[in-house]
Amino acid sequence: MTLYPMPPLPSNDKRWKIVNGTMRRHGYTRHALIETLHTVQTSFGYLDDESIRFVAKSLHVPLSQAYGVVTFYHYFSLKPPGKHTATVCTGTACYIKGADRLIASSERHLDVKQGETTADGNISLMTARCVGACGRAPVVIMDGELMGDATSEKMLEQFERWAV
Ligand code: FES
Repeated sequence: MTLYPMPPLPSNDKRWKIVNGTMRRHGYTRHALIETLHTVQTSFGYLDDESIRFVAKSLHVPLSQAYGVVTFYHYFSLKPPGKHTATVCTGTACYIKGADRLIASSERHLDVKQGETTADGNISLMTARCVGACGRAPVVIMDGELMGDATSEKMLEQFERWAV
């Protein structure tokens, strides 16, 4: 039985389901704070006020504590990433199906390393752990839309569309 109502997901963006999955795995306890913030960071590329509030409220931790964690660890970024975000799932199923090749070809095409944003600020290349769609591995989330059976070709086509 939960004593507190859960806040609604901030939007229909599928990445919130990934964030929610991390919290659920930990029974929505405050011990999940760092790992959940980490999931927001890897899924969205950064944390904004809305996401920090959502996580704090869901885990019943004071907002100041959540902000404290975000500002203490250099790993977290409060800066928005590129205009578009490609998040490659690196969970086991996706890894077996070649997620590392998708990352390598994207890095070459965009001239960035994973976790970085292109020099023109257009595209961020991020990674996430299992996004819960293993049956469609390898999976990439392109601006919140799930791309199953992803290939380098399909990703590069999307990068081209984003470039215009
Ligand atoms: S490992 Fe990629 S969706 Fe599960």
